Amino acid sequence: MASRLSPQQQIEALREEIRRHEHLYYVLDTPEVTDAEYDALMNRLKALEAEHPECITPDSPTQRVGGKPREGFVKTPHSRPMLSLDNAYNEAELRAWDQRVRDALPSAERVRYVCELKLDGLSLALHYAPAADGSAQLQRGLTRGDGTIGEDVTSNVRTIRSVPLRVDAAKLKAAKLPGNFEVRGEVVLPQAAFLKMNEQRVAQGLAPAVNPRNAAAGTIRTLEPNIVAQRRLDFYAYFLLHGEGDNAGEMLLPTQTEALAALRTAGFRVNTHATTVDSIDQALAFIAKAEGVRDSLGYEIDGIVIKVDATAQQRRLGFTGKAPRWAIAYKFPARAGITRMEGVLFQVGRTGKVTPVAALSPVFIGGTTVSRATLHNADEIARLGVRIGDFVQVERGGDVIPKIVSIVEDAQHPRGAEPIVFPTHCPRCKTLLVREEEEVDYRCVNASCPARLEEELRHFASRSVMNIEGLGEVMVAQLLGHTIAEHEADAAAAESEVESEEATADAPTREALVHSVADLYTLTKEQLLTLERVGEKSADSLLAQIENSKQAPLNRVLLGLGIRHVGERTAQALADEFGSLDELIAASTSATEGEEDKLTRVNDIGPKVAASIRDFFSNPTNLALIKRLKKLGLTMPAEKRVTTSTLEGLTFVLTGTLPTLTREAAKELIESAGGKVSGSVSKKTSYVVAGEEAGSKLDKAQSLGVPILDEAGLRALLSEKG
Ligand code: IVH
Repeated sequence: MASRLSPQQQIEALREEIRRHEHLYYVLDTPEVTDAEYDALMNRLKALEAEHPECITPDSPTQRVGGKPREGFVKTPHSRPMLSLDNAYNEAELRAWDQRVRDALPSAERVRYVCELKLDGLSLALHYAPAADGSAQLQRGLTRGDGTIGEDVTSNVRTIRSVPLRVDAAKLKAAKLPGNFEVRGEVVLPQAAFLKMNEQRVAQGLAPAVNPRNAAAGTIRTLEPNIVAQRRLDFYAYFLLHGEGDNAGEMLLPTQTEALAALRTAGFRVNTHATTVDSIDQALAFIAKAEGVRDSLGYEIDGIVIKVDATAQQRRLGFTGKAPRWAIAYKFPARAGITRMEGVLFQVGRTGKVTPVAALSPVFIGGTTVSRATLHNADEIARLGVRIGDFVQVERGGDVIPKIVSIVEDAQHPRGAEPIVFPTHCPRCKTLLVREEEEVDYRCVNASCPARLEEELRHFASRSVMNIEGLGEVMVAQLLGHTIAEHEADAAAAESEVESEEATADAPTREALVHSVADLYTLTKEQLLTLERVGEKSADSLLAQIENSKQAPLNRVLLGLGIRHVGERTAQALADEFGSLDELIAASTSATEGEEDKLTRVNDIGPKVAASIRDFFSNPTNLALIKRLKKLGLTMPAEKRVTTSTLEGLTFVLTGTLPTLTREAAKELIESAGGKVSGSVSKKTSYVVAGEEAGSKLDKAQSLGVPILDEAGLRALLSEKG
C-alpha cells in the first residue's frame, strides 16, 4: 500500500504511527511493539526524510534532538509566577490546613481535594500555540528560574519523549482544549536512568551526581541536547493553564480533576496515582497508601501535594507570600540508612567556621547515594561518641544535608576505630583556630584565608545572591590562581578523603586575579582570556553578567556581604526598613549594644543578629569593601517586596458584602495598615476583597488575574503583615 501514497503521505503516516507508539511507550507505559520494531519505523522515517528534506517539519519525531541553544538559555518571564508550596509534616498540621481552607470558604460549600504525588524533580512550564493544521505545537519550555523569570530550555525539553511536540486537532477537540495553553509539571529522572548515568560518570572519572533531582536539574540545563536525549528524563503534567490573553497562567478548567483528565486525553503523561477525595480523612488514607508504594515507583517522591479541586475556590483562597492557600505539601519523614564512616574532613566556610564532615562509604538512601554527612561541630562529635571506622545511622530529610543520627549499637567501635581529632589549625591556611566564648564552632579568623575567599566568591555569585552566571566552582578556583587540573585534583581528594590533612589544596600555581568580591568588578577581558577553557564568548558573557550584577537590589548585596546570621529574610527585612546601605550603617553604628535600638525594632531581628550586624559594620575592612563596591558602580536599589511590615504600596478594591466587616470598617483596617482602597479594578490592583453578591468587579479581577481575598483572607493578610 505504501507505494500508492505520495512520499509526503507516507511520511505523515509513519509519523502518526511513531507518535502513537511513543505515546504508548513513554506516556502510558504500555508498548505494543518491541524496541527493534520501533527503531525500524524510525529508521524508515529518517530515510524518507533524508530523501525528501522539504518534508521535514519541527514536530516530526525525528526532530526531537535539534540545534544547540547558541547563546545559552534566554531568560523569559512566566505568565504567572511559579510558586512553591507550604509544607505540613504531620497529620495535625494537615488537619489545621484543612480547617483554614474550610473556614475561609462559606460553610455550606463542599470542598474536594485532589491528592497527587509530590515528584522530586524540577518544575517546568510548557507553552503550546496553534498551528495552521489545527494542531497545537510546543513553542517553549521554561524552567522555574527564580519563580518569576525562567530560562528557555526548549531545545532540551523537546528531547523528553513524554513531552508531546504536537497535540493534533482531534486530541485538542477530545480534551476540549484551545490551541493556546500552558502545561506545568515536573521533570524527573527515573531511578534506573539515574543509576545508569552515575555508572557512566564514574567510568569517565567524573564525580557521581548526588541525587536524581540534582541530576535532572543539571541535565535540563546542559547545553548539549544530544546528552539530554540520552539521559531519559520524564515529564509529568500537573497544571493546565490558559495560554494567551489577560488570564494567561490561570487555571483553564473549573476543576483540577478535569484538568488532569484533559491533559491525559491530550497525550500528556499524568501521574496515575492522582486521586480526587471528599475529605481530609480520605487524603490521609491516600498518604498512607502512597507511603506503602513509595519504594516501588521507580522515581523519587518526597511527599504528597493536596490541592483544592475547584478553581473558583482556589481563587477565593488566594495566596500568602510565595505559596497558594489552596494547596499544601505533606512531606514524608526523613529516611535513614546504615553505613561505615571512613573518615572526617574539615571544611572551612565563608565565615571561617570549620565544619566536620563525615566521609561515608557510599550508601543508597531513598534514591540518593550518600557519601557525606555533616557532623555539625566538635560538641556533636562528642555527643555521638563516633569514631572513624564506626557504623553509623545516616538520615536524609527532604532538602537537608544528610546527618549522622547515631552509632549502630551492636557494631560500636569495631577493631581499629580511631577517635576523631579536631584540628587546632585551619586546614587551609594553618592559622590557629579560635573558639569564642559560648560558641560551639571553631573558626579560622584569618580574613584572607583562601578557603574563606573561595566560599565567599561562590556565595556572592550564586543564583539567590548576585546571580552571576558563569562564575561557578571551576571559574572561582581559576580566579584564585588554580589550574583546572589542580581544582579537579582537589575535588577528587575531597571525594576520596580519609584524613583531614589531605583535603588541603595545594598552593595555587598562578597569581590570583581576585582577592575580594570587589575585585570581580575590575576583571578585564584580557585577564579572563588567560584562563583555561575561556574563549572570547565566555569571557564576554561573564563580564556582561558581572556588569549586570551591579544593579542587584540592596537585599541581595546585603546577603552577598556574608554578615553572620543574616540570611535571605533578614537581608530583605533590613533593606525594607532602611532603604539604603548608608541608613543601615548609620543605624548599626549609632546605637550601643543592649539598648532598644533601630536594628532590633526590625521584625525578626533579635539581639544576637543585631550584634552581628553591628560588628560587621564597625569593622573598617568591611566598610572599605562597601565603599569600594559603590565606587565600582554597584547601585543597590531598595526593592520593596509585597511582604513589608505593613500593607504599604498595596491597593485594594472592596466588592460585595463581607460577613462581619462593613465596607467602612474594612477600609479603615486597610488604610490604618498603610494600604490604599480604590473604587475600580485595574491591573495595578493588588487584591480584590470580595464578599457575598460581589458583582462585576469580581469578574474583572478574575479576568485580569488579580488575587481575590475573602474577609478571612484579608484578616490573615493583616495579621501576617502587622
Ligand atoms: S503544585 C503553586 N504538584 O513541588 C503550586 N508541585 O514545593 C506549586 N512538585 O515547585 C506546584 N510534584 O516542583 C505541584 N504534583 C505536584 C508536584 C509539585 C512535585 C514540586 C514542584 C513545586 C514544588 C513545591
